Amino acid sequence: MGRIFRTLCVSALLSVPLLAVASDQDTIRYREDVMKTLNEQAGVLGEMLSGAVPNDNYGAQLQAFALTASTALKAFESKVPGGKAKPAVWASWTDFSKRMTEFAQQAAAAAKTAKEQGNDAAAEDLIDATESCKSCHKQYRQEMKGDRDDQ
Ligand code: HEC
Repeated sequence: MGRIFRTLCVSALLSVPLLAVASDQDTIRYREDVMKTLNEQAGVLGEMLSGAVPNDNYGAQLQAFALTASTALKAFESKVPGGKAKPAVWASWTDFSKRMTEFAQQAAAAAKTAKEQGNDAAAEDLIDATESCKSCHKQYRQEMKGDRDDQ
């Protein structure tokens, strides 16, 4: 059983071309997947903060969130309009990239504060970061419902 599983995994890896060139569709899907990851990670943090689930892993989850945030700008660097991104992302790239960089810094600050001063102390940085989701989406994303910052 374990051997079959390993064989399947290896053949799945081998079927991915090593020097793949991303199509426009791949580029859009990738940045949307990064955003969805952020959304789910923000959800996990919220569930822990509200006390709905134990918060033993809060610090680690916050670090994972900050790490994802640090990768988000790169996912928008290829100028491929589409998805829910407004063309303004690339037309106002200086502003967009500044916002994304600040967002990643807020997430990193929250992770650092939690590590050094405890989870509660990080709440303010985290609120700043989620405000950044909302304000960036208002400007640069088509209207949509259902993500964490709409709640
Ligand atoms: C600096 C701008 C910016 C920041 C900050 C930002 N986003 Fe986004 N987000 C976008 C843009 C632009 C899109 C549209 C991407 C696309 O569809 O190509 C998007 C898309 C999304 C989507 C939709 C993905 C899909 O296709 O279903 C979700 C969910 C999302 N963001 C959640 C978040 C959350 C949660 C945060 C903060 C924790 C956040 N974003 C921070 C700009 C931003």
